[in-house]
Amino acid sequence: MSSTVILGAQWGDEGKGKITDYLAENAQVVVRYQGGNNAGHTVEVGGQQYKLHLVPSGILYKNTINIIGDGVVIDPEALFEEINSLNKKGINTDSLIISDRAHVIMPYHKIIDMLSERKRGKSDIGTTGKGIGPCYTDKFERSGIRVCDLINKDAFIKRAKANIDRKNEIISKIYGEKPLNKEEIITKYLEYGDRIRPFVKDTTVIVYNEIKKGSKVLFEGAQGTLLDVDYGTYPYVTSSHPISGGVCVGAGIGPRSIDKVVGVCKAYTTRVGKGPFPTELLDDTGNYLREKGCEYGTTTGRPRRCGWLDLVVVQFASRLSGITDIAITKIDTLSGLDKIKACVGYELDGKAIEHFPASLDDLARCKPIYEEFEGWDDTIKKARKFEDLPSGAKKYIKRIEDLTEAKVSIISVGPNRDETILA
Ligand code: GDP
Ligand code: IMO
Ligand code: MG
Repeated sequence: MSSTVILGAQWGDEGKGKITDYLAENAQVVVRYQGGNNAGHTVEVGGQQYKLHLVPSGILYKNTINIIGDGVVIDPEALFEEINSLNKKGINTDSLIISDRAHVIMPYHKIIDMLSERKRGKSDIGTTGKGIGPCYTDKFERSGIRVCDLINKDAFIKRAKANIDRKNEIISKIYGEKPLNKEEIITKYLEYGDRIRPFVKDTTVIVYNEIKKGSKVLFEGAQGTLLDVDYGTYPYVTSSHPISGGVCVGAGIGPRSIDKVVGVCKAYTTRVGKGPFPTELLDDTGNYLREKGCEYGTTTGRPRRCGWLDLVVVQFASRLSGITDIAITKIDTLSGLDKIKACVGYELDGKAIEHFPASLDDLARCKPIYEEFEGWDDTIKKARKFEDLPSGAKKYIKRIEDLTEAKVSIISVGPNRDETILA
């Protein structure tokens, strides 16, 4: 098996960073293929915690090549902050390679993200405010600035001037705010261009050659299936494709190069931001999961909404991405509860429905159909083999396999690299 996709099977924050870091031990290359620094991937090794936003989660290994692919949107300011903070912790970031085709997040993207959310008022999406949506909008509107432009002074100045003028009209005439200072932005970004130049390459060639020579390549998804712009809970989604289909466009590979798809699935469900959430628990159990699982956003610090595991969602993710393997994370967070529930179907207007609906109005009316499982205690954290797991947890895992038609091959019982079971 040479190429493995690691993606979120729920609404993000499933533990993709932990699983990518774990699998990266035996990989030569790790590639991010979509999203930007809206992602927050936490990796813990030997008591030290690393919060990654743009840098792939293979960075903690000395000999791994880490690629930020074509489908990612890059905020250079955030990128250099992240590199600096990793370097301060003694992590060498020289292995980083950045695609010349990736789009650049400009200051006007961040401001427009914030202003458009404000304008939406109560109907806001609850974005991370990192300028992700506006940057992808420009990409598809064909006015974006790519990394290959950022490192070419003349091309950059020409594109930036035209864009800043247009965005300033929007900022001042539509939102009534102060226009941005064009010269300041250009000067700052030309400096970023100089700094980013040594990292920039045609990453499609590197990925192609690595796969051809038999290297093990991991494609690290950001966000999750239900935040996918086509298949998620639109409009409460991000503006990219976290599903496995996004890997081909976002890393520049053909579908035949993908051997394995690992869907990362938290043992319960969380989401940040707005939108319907059928298994949400607005009671003491929801609070228990939030506090025990430290469910506060890595990027924004917002409390995450918590609920029971929704297998209709994971089944949908499995079908959309052709998930071959599931990595269950945070099963230890469920310990201490007498009974654990998992949603195995929905009832809509009195009738059972088979598939995850497109319409949010329908989803908001869906009532979860639950199955109940025996709880387990905190000793689950010590398990290092499948046989060590309590019987309730084994049954829970078996049911996840039945419904998703995928093998649960990784079980995570704690945030640390070594708190992991290969099944
Ligand atoms: P990502 O965005 O999918 O990479 O996930 P996040 O890093 O945003 O959120 C997952 C959180 O759970 C992080 O704080 C991880 O350190 C932590 N985590 C990952 N796996 C486990 C686990 O098995 N048990 C516990 N208790 N925490 C975990
Ligand atoms: P990781 O990779 C969870 C959510 C935001 C918001 C919506 C749109 O850590 O799993 P955006 O800023 O992307 O336009 O916001 O998507 N969101 C995430 N939720 N995990 C993430 O990333 C997310 N990235 C974006 O909260 O609801
Ligand atoms: Mg996260």
